[in-house]
Amino acid sequence: MTSNEIRRTFLEYFRQHGHRVVASAPLVPGDDPTLLFTNAGMNQFKDVFLGREKREYTRATTSQKVMRVSGKHNDLDNVGPSHRHHTFFEMLGNFSFGDYFKAEAIEFAWRMLTEVWQMPAEKLVVSVFKGENGIPRDTEAYDIWRKFVPADRIMELGSEDNFWQMGDTGPCGRCSEIYYVRGGSGADPEIEIWNNVFMEFERSADGTLTPLPAPSIDTGMGLERITAVLQGKESNYDTDLFMPLLTRVGELAGVRYGDNEQTDVSMRVVADHARAMTFLIGDGVIPSNEWRGYVLRKIMRRAMRHGKHLGFTEPFLHEMVTVLAREMGDAYPDLRTNQEMIVKTITAEENRFDAVLKDGLPRLEAEIDKARESGAKVLGGEAAFRLYDTFGVPYDFIEDTAATRGVSVDREA
Ligand code: SER
Repeated sequence: MTSNEIRRTFLEYFRQHGHRVVASAPLVPGDDPTLLFTNAGMNQFKDVFLGREKREYTRATTSQKVMRVSGKHNDLDNVGPSHRHHTFFEMLGNFSFGDYFKAEAIEFAWRMLTEVWQMPAEKLVVSVFKGENGIPRDTEAYDIWRKFVPADRIMELGSEDNFWQMGDTGPCGRCSEIYYVRGGSGADPEIEIWNNVFMEFERSADGTLTPLPAPSIDTGMGLERITAVLQGKESNYDTDLFMPLLTRVGELAGVRYGDNEQTDVSMRVVADHARAMTFLIGDGVIPSNEWRGYVLRKIMRRAMRHGKHLGFTEPFLHEMVTVLAREMGDAYPDLRTNQEMIVKTITAEENRFDAVLKDGLPRLEAEIDKARESGAKVLGGEAAFRLYDTFGVPYDFIEDTAATRGVSVDREA
């Protein structure tokens, strides 16, 4: 099954079960100052959960564009080494607003996986909230799961895993995760694929939990992970969501994915960040020195740095947009409509940073090497200032580059 088919069959299953198929919200949240970027499928329904807004439907399903690069849910530093983390990803979800609750949500999830996608039931393990911090064990979820799985495949975990909240405030609740056990000795012998949140409370700024007007359901499943599992791949990057990008990067750079761990890491960063920048710019974010634009700029510069490690001497990132428009344009038609604007924005940013990359980056890397050799693993203030003042290397870029090699910068100096 292709990733496009996986996305489609998910939405279709829930549509057949009375859910409205709702379009993904943009990555820039409408009017939520608590959020940098949309970080979960439930964001666009936040006020519906809280009872502040009514919609004409009580069941919804989405494939939501998501960024996890800040705050409570931040995966930025895992990208590259990890085979299952991303800055940008798509989250498949089904939602109930005071309609069905735990029994139906668990049954839907189970049937989606084992009947529609025919995953072997014995490969699935689930978890429920064990009871912690004054919130009781989720006995109800446990009893429902027992209808589908034996007791030894139900884990009981604490708040870290089985209590979900989108930020420090907002709707939240106990949750139940579904894991797929691959076995073997790959990077992730077992992998969390689906989170079913039983929304029951609103957390306010002082930490208190107030019951929601009606218990609700919020689920989220990363398309990249479920695609890896259904396509029998150990790594998300080996699926059809990433391979076309990795292949294109490889063609342009004259390297092959899978040949060398160091270039593989750089290729994964480029592929991941190319998706993030394409979708962010498509949703109206412009690289800048502030707020959302700054995060975009940081991601782009990181990708450019890894491009240098792959041997690129000319701008290349904008080439990825063509691949994404071709592969994902059916699901996100805006990608095709906005293609030219996205390419122009990326090319301009690449050109703007080119001189810094050419002159500054080798010098920065030499300073990082020196700092590592000295054993102190600190890049001195004077060297950092010279890189900035003479070669235009932005301070944050110095810090970010140094951090990836375990070196800190003496900001004080
Ligand atoms: N909101 C939950 C999550 O992001 C489930 O969708 O994991």
